[in-house]
Amino acid sequence: MSDETFYLTTPIYYVNATPHLGHAYTTILADTMARFQKLRLGSDRVYFLTGTDEHGDKIAQAAAKAGESPQAYADRISGIFQETWKRLGLTPNQFIRTTSEHHKRAVQRFLQTIYDSGDIYFGQYGGHYCFGCERFYTEKELEDGKCPDHQKEPTYIEEENYFFRMGKYQDWLIDYVNRHPDFIRPERYKNEVLAFLKEPLEDLCISRPRSRLTWGIPLPFDDQFVTYVWFDALINYISALGWPDGEGFRHFWPSAQHLIAKDILKPHAIYWPTMLRAAGIEPYRHLNVHGYWKIEESKMSKSLGKVVAPLELADTYGLDAFRYFLLREMTFGLDASFSEEALVARLNADLANDLGNLYSRVLKLIQRYYSGRIPEWSDEGGLSEATRAAVGDMTAAMERFAFGEALGAIWNLVSATNKYLVTNEPWKLDPADPLTKSVLFTATETLRKIALLLSPFLPQTAERMLRGLGIDAPLASVRLEEALGSGWLGRALERRIEEVPALFPRIQTTAQKPSEEAKRAPTASEALPGQITIEEFRRLDLRVADVIEAASVPGSKKLVRLRVRLKDEERTIVAGLREQYPLESWTGKRIILVANLKPTTLMGIPSQGMVLAAEDDAGNIVLLTPEQPIAPGSKVR
Ligand code: MSP
Repeated sequence: MSDETFYLTTPIYYVNATPHLGHAYTTILADTMARFQKLRLGSDRVYFLTGTDEHGDKIAQAAAKAGESPQAYADRISGIFQETWKRLGLTPNQFIRTTSEHHKRAVQRFLQTIYDSGDIYFGQYGGHYCFGCERFYTEKELEDGKCPDHQKEPTYIEEENYFFRMGKYQDWLIDYVNRHPDFIRPERYKNEVLAFLKEPLEDLCISRPRSRLTWGIPLPFDDQFVTYVWFDALINYISALGWPDGEGFRHFWPSAQHLIAKDILKPHAIYWPTMLRAAGIEPYRHLNVHGYWKIEESKMSKSLGKVVAPLELADTYGLDAFRYFLLREMTFGLDASFSEEALVARLNADLANDLGNLYSRVLKLIQRYYSGRIPEWSDEGGLSEATRAAVGDMTAAMERFAFGEALGAIWNLVSATNKYLVTNEPWKLDPADPLTKSVLFTATETLRKIALLLSPFLPQTAERMLRGLGIDAPLASVRLEEALGSGWLGRALERRIEEVPALFPRIQTTAQKPSEEAKRAPTASEALPGQITIEEFRRLDLRVADVIEAASVPGSKKLVRLRVRLKDEERTIVAGLREQYPLESWTGKRIILVANLKPTTLMGIPSQGMVLAAEDDAGNIVLLTPEQPIAPGSKVR
């Protein structure tokens, strides 16, 4: 048996603010990944850590403002984080706090180790200090002499401090990153780090005089100084495992993976590996970096006369719908927009229609035909290929932290199952016909596997789906391979469908008043959710067009203005492809145009159509173009 382990951390969050969507997102991702790895490896081989970062000026200031002692304040806010994670159903193995005794001891031990080996020295430092950011800025970093984040002039401070010889490890780090191409991923962040390392790496100031900052951990070799933010915070990742001697450290550190957003790339990709190197500790395995959520104001909540904080939407629409949206909507590594409308659209299309309808359709048929007893059948060949593909694709995507892609792979299986039913039409068959039995057996077996695959992402839904199928096994003790392989989870139990839970009721929005047509329950021959009819497709007028000229759009880096020729007609199109295709590359390109799109105006320029391009999950975009020469104006069928 392999001794593979999996150790995953989130950033430890500052306690100067209460939890918001960004914190919840990273912690939900980590929770999903930890659940997936537990399913794969067994729960004792997986460790998931989160916590709070509680020292520093900002926190002392926030405490003073709240009229509390720093410790009482940190206790209170850290408690809110812990409560919030519980409310969101997140299950870390440990919640670490930097004010805990064992963490403080580990930080002091770490500092002493590298002080003894000569990598910490005492020196003079002068610089522009921003109290808001709690850091020094170089002249170059300031914008008009002001801190770029706070738009305030920093204070010039000159003082003696302790420094870590980070510069000494620059060449080692560059070499390490080059030799381990997926040390920092996705690649764009590795490239960002390597670009940064092209400039000389300065030593890192790691202390603050006690006279100025008292809310920190004293240096073990000079108690007139306390450690500064990162030298305290980053060490949580090993203090939590009982470094240096703890069994947990020995067991889990070799498989360590960190999960962060792009805002704290530099401390994690540069400070932390060099600190570990100086202390003689192996670097972590992977640093996984995600993008930022931008929050769009919701017209929906606004129409109800209130502004809803994103986290409250978890209560409104349910934990799993909230998780699903976050996991599916953001391509790992890129930014994404959060809006209530987009969440509801995903809920209705993917969860209520695709998954929910499939589930209730199959279970209701079994109730009607066989009084709820799932027909026994040995052959589940009809969907075995699609199942294998979904498991393979989902597992491969999870290896890369591509959560949206992993869900996409499961949804391919949901669609394949829907298609399988439409092809075989069991609702038109005689219940006693062996084909009916085999089709419904195959569909329930596949639904059981879908539930299993979904369990890391939608834990509550997966349990409800399995319970509906007559399976009460606690998911925590199930192992993926076993459960998929022999089907024991399904067959070992006396299964009977008692009631059919509605997994995700459709949300009615004012924007989409149901027509009489839509209210009618779908019949077997109608299109399934997500499908369109050939008539609907024919309404699109897609044409081949030649680009004859490209120009910039004043005030926009992303847009390009194209002049294109169809057969004997020219049009102007504004396309958001400037970043992928520079201006000079456009002329002469043959593209595919949506020719009957309602004209619109972008940045003051009327646009008469839309250019088709394909985008993969990593955000790479390529233009669609005819495979052979063909006249402009040709119709795409
Ligand atoms: N305390 C430090 C981290 C120390 S780790 C050794 C810190 N704390 S923080 O409270 O500011 O949290 C930053 C993290 O919160 C981000 O890296 C990300 O995980 C999450 N997010 C905060 N806002 C976010 C978005 N708008 N979008 C996505 N995630 C974001 O930095």
